[in-house]
Amino acid sequence: MIDVKHLTKWYSQVLAVDNISFRVEKGRIVGFLGPNGAGKSTTLKIITCFLPASSGTVTLNGLDVLSESLAVRRQIGYMPENVPLYEEMRVREYLTFRAALRDIPAKRRPAAIDRVCERCWLSSPEDMTRRRLGELSRGYKQRVGLAEVLLHNPPVLVLDEPTIGLDPAQIRAMRELIRELSGDHTVIFSSHILAEVEQTCDDIIIIAGGRLAAAGTPAELRQRVAGPSRIVAELKGAAPEDIAKGVEGLAGISAVESSQHNHWTRLDIQAGDDDPRKDIFQLAKTQNWDLRELRRATGSLEDFFVQITYEQSMRTDRAAG
Ligand SMILES: Nc1ncnc2c1ncn2[C@@H]1O[C@H](COP(=O)(O)OP(=O)(O)OP(=O)(O)O)[C@@H](O)[C@H]1O
Ligand SMILES: [Mg+2]
Repeated sequence: MIDVKHLTKWYSQVLAVDNISFRVEKGRIVGFLGPNGAGKSTTLKIITCFLPASSGTVTLNGLDVLSESLAVRRQIGYMPENVPLYEEMRVREYLTFRAALRDIPAKRRPAAIDRVCERCWLSSPEDMTRRRLGELSRGYKQRVGLAEVLLHNPPVLVLDEPTIGLDPAQIRAMRELIRELSGDHTVIFSSHILAEVEQTCDDIIIIAGGRLAAAGTPAELRQRVAGPSRIVAELKGAAPEDIAKGVEGLAGISAVESSQHNHWTRLDIQAGDDDPRKDIFQLAKTQNWDLRELRRATGSLEDFFVQITYEQSMRTDRAAG
């Protein structure tokens, strides 16, 4: 659906996006994750025709964002980082104006506006539709921005940090709304909050320092963090050192770290390519140890994200120094 190829963007001397390629499939929710300054907003602006790339291409259903930008814009709803609003206009007036720009016929506008105000929590519990935009709090401005994006019901939604500035209840509501929109819509949204992306997205794209650092489903990325060979076991029935030594003596095990948890010895085991779990089980059986846990470790995406960000900052420091 969306094909980004070798995308590069320079702001005069600053390389903001450095040769990024990825693909977004129809109906997916894609989280665009990266630390501050990673190049998220820049990439989203290029995808949505707001900024030309320095090199590389972006196509939406085969349409080029540069040469066929009008056709592309019709299919995309874009909510920028800072939603530009006309301070003096009232919410309903503003949405009517935007609906006209979007070529929504005059007689269909009121219903379309009611629908998006309802969806974006602008008409209840309190009716905000008659307020002036300049008087709205940041979170409410964000909601108006989202309402505008949904007005013409575009198949692709690109949301730059949609939950920033929202209160906790609204953050949850926004995530639910994004999930509801999936299927019919393809949604790309950026965030620097990993937990948010992990909970909401089908696919995650991580960028750091303008480069693509990783891409995949949350499960795939988690698997990458852990690697295939980390095992966690919890055993009881002998001194912790003896349990650790026993497991370390098994074939194919390269390192064992142990810790104590309420009389249980917890082992963090680094193994080779062969899964050693059946040997650990066998050992526990012959030694008459109790075994209450034996699984492959799943790494936390948080660690992965921090590691990527850290590596990137080291690279930047080196480049600067
Ligand atoms: N108009 C501009 N002129 C010059 N440099 C810019 C401009 N806009 C962004 N940059 C630089 O490009 C890089 C990427 O910025 P971008 O806004 O895309 O990052 P981001 O991932 O959206 O960050 P954040 O999480 O802070 O929103 C940064 O180094 C930024 O300083
Ligand atoms: Mg940004």
